[in-house]
Amino acid sequence: MMRRIAVMTSGGDAPGMNPAIRAVIRTATSHGVEAFGIRQAYAGLLAGDFERMTNRDVSGIIERGGTILQTARNLDFKTEQGQKRGFRRLNEHGIEGLVVIGGDGSLRGAQALHNLGFPVIGVPGSIDNDIWGTNMSIGVDTALNTILDAIDKLRDTASSHECCFLLEVMGRNCGYLATMGGILGGAEFIVIPEYPTKLEDIGEALEAAYMKGKSHAMGLIAEGATPKVHEVAEYLGSHAIGFEVRVTVLGHVVRGGSPSAFDRLLATRMGVSAVERLLAGESGVMVGLHGREIGTVPIEDAISKQREVSKEYIDMAEVLSK
Ligand code: ADP
Ligand code: F6P
Repeated sequence: MMRRIAVMTSGGDAPGMNPAIRAVIRTATSHGVEAFGIRQAYAGLLAGDFERMTNRDVSGIIERGGTILQTARNLDFKTEQGQKRGFRRLNEHGIEGLVVIGGDGSLRGAQALHNLGFPVIGVPGSIDNDIWGTNMSIGVDTALNTILDAIDKLRDTASSHECCFLLEVMGRNCGYLATMGGILGGAEFIVIPEYPTKLEDIGEALEAAYMKGKSHAMGLIAEGATPKVHEVAEYLGSHAIGFEVRVTVLGHVVRGGSPSAFDRLLATRMGVSAVERLLAGESGVMVGLHGREIGTVPIEDAISKQREVSKEYIDMAEVLSK
């Protein structure tokens, strides 16, 4: 039985990381295992920034966005030398198992430690929902709710002024947030990296919407998509589509805020499962939401495959926008 485990949050922060940390610490404590937090992800690992954490250290964090352990990007850990140094730091602190909460980059780091023989469990935490091997990652639901709140507010202005709002949302190279935001927020069109979109098609759809009497319009554009939001705005601005065109870039607003009920539950279940699996001797796997259950996939699979936005959703968005 392990006596000491550690947890870190890495990559972009996501709402729900705090409930996940809380679940890890308290599950470890319940098994009589000492829990440590590593500050600032792999940077903190290399710097030896470890802190013993008790149940009281994770009180009052379940409703907080971001991550109390903070997060960081670190290039050194991408090198073999850096990974070996990280392995050594863990041994120096008597840590026998690690839970890494983060996106696909963070999971690559976790896989590297597993390859060196260190017991690691991955937990998918990223608003982008781009991680293969789980239906949802921690933070996605809260981010989506933030996007819907923004759409609902923008629609008040859009309909008062007969505007078309172009809303750019985060998601790196993945169009999940833009697609779901578009469907659930009632957008006229979406532009995502996974599927090509022609400027002429957007222009025609908006002009048709204007001519048939719509009071406003909304387009959701993923940050990683082509064309970019400003290119769409320029095109529409010079093609007399009827609506006045306005642009809003939500940026990091989407990453903040108190985790939703769904994210608190997902993070809690994943945190508990990660520790139980680590203590049961599993390593090199990522916990994930499979149907209604928390299952696992090899981290190797999670980082080598691409999670895709289903074509079914793209078609649904098209039908419902008319
Ligand atoms: P995310 O985890 O959200 O995808 P990043 O891609 O920025 O975010 O990755 C977070 C951190 O994970 C990086 O700063 C680096 O320290 C570590 N990391 C990323 N890729 C690798 C890799 N191939 N090998 C080891 N560590 C990596
Ligand atoms: O992965 C989460 C994410 O917010 C992406 O949606 C976005 O592309 C990226 O991180 C932004 O990263 P940074 O924190 O460096 O601005």
